[in-house]
Amino acid sequence: MAGSYDDRDGKIWMDGKLVEWRDAKVHVLTHAMHYASSVFEGERCYNGKIFKSREHSERLHFSAGELDFEIPYTVDEIEAAKQQVLTENGLTDAYVRAVAWRGAGEDMGVASLRNPVHLAIAAWEWGNYYGDAKMKGAKIDIAKWKRPSPETIPVHAKAAGLYMICTTSKHAAEAKGCSDALFMDYRGYVAECTGANIFFVKDGEVHTPKADVFLNGITRQTVIGMLKDKGVTVHERVIMPEELEGFEQCWLTGTAAEVTPVGQIADYNFEVGALCREISEDYEKLVRA
Ligand SMILES: Cc1ncc(COP(=O)(O)O)c(C=O)c1O
Repeated sequence: MAGSYDDRDGKIWMDGKLVEWRDAKVHVLTHAMHYASSVFEGERCYNGKIFKSREHSERLHFSAGELDFEIPYTVDEIEAAKQQVLTENGLTDAYVRAVAWRGAGEDMGVASLRNPVHLAIAAWEWGNYYGDAKMKGAKIDIAKWKRPSPETIPVHAKAAGLYMICTTSKHAAEAKGCSDALFMDYRGYVAECTGANIFFVKDGEVHTPKADVFLNGITRQTVIGMLKDKGVTVHERVIMPEELEGFEQCWLTGTAAEVTPVGQIADYNFEVGALCREISEDYEKLVRA
């Protein structure tokens, strides 16, 4: 299956029922399109089982709450709907996208309490997010934008509004031949990439930015657990950009990214080293276990 994402065969779950892929549409006066009242999840299904499925559905509910709306389906109902989408489309290895949003309704201003909340779930086959970077190590740009303060926007929600600077930063990165962009946060500390968290290795120990102003990824948490189980020391701490020079290895984590080695960030180079490869392979085994 390929081509435009609105022109494919298959079924999409929308507000409680499966609809034809091409009929899964919204009105132009949908509140979310104008004011970013939308939250979503990105999940991967391996061998017929979505990795950390329930955690993703719970985070979707949490994100909606951060945007002041409630999804009219329980976590259990979302779990069942995701399975239905996979089964109906004959998928066992796929990316799953759940999205909830404020729709069109009686309100067209910023306030939207009278507009209904919708939920849709789609799934499709999706390969490596960073192409061949899994082997070579991704090349990463540094974004001109900063991850915002938690006093500016609900930074722990997986909400559409937080991705505006991700899209523009990724465009700028790709124009320079990079796969992604690394953000500093509003304080100038190393934060995360446009759709993935970041880890570094130095002297056999792992360092990763404390997830206090960005998405504490489900993959990030999984990888920290895996490292600790191996007896590797993990420091979740403030990382300054000047420290990039001293790190030996680097990788990204995310549902789409999985564990992707990084070879270069701006002018700093990293080796695709043993720990990085080991964690990447262990993660692949874990998600299929
Ligand atoms: C901005 C951002 N940070 C981090 C992540 C990693 O999160 P997870 O591991 O839960 O997919 C993602 C991907 O969802 C993301 O979009």
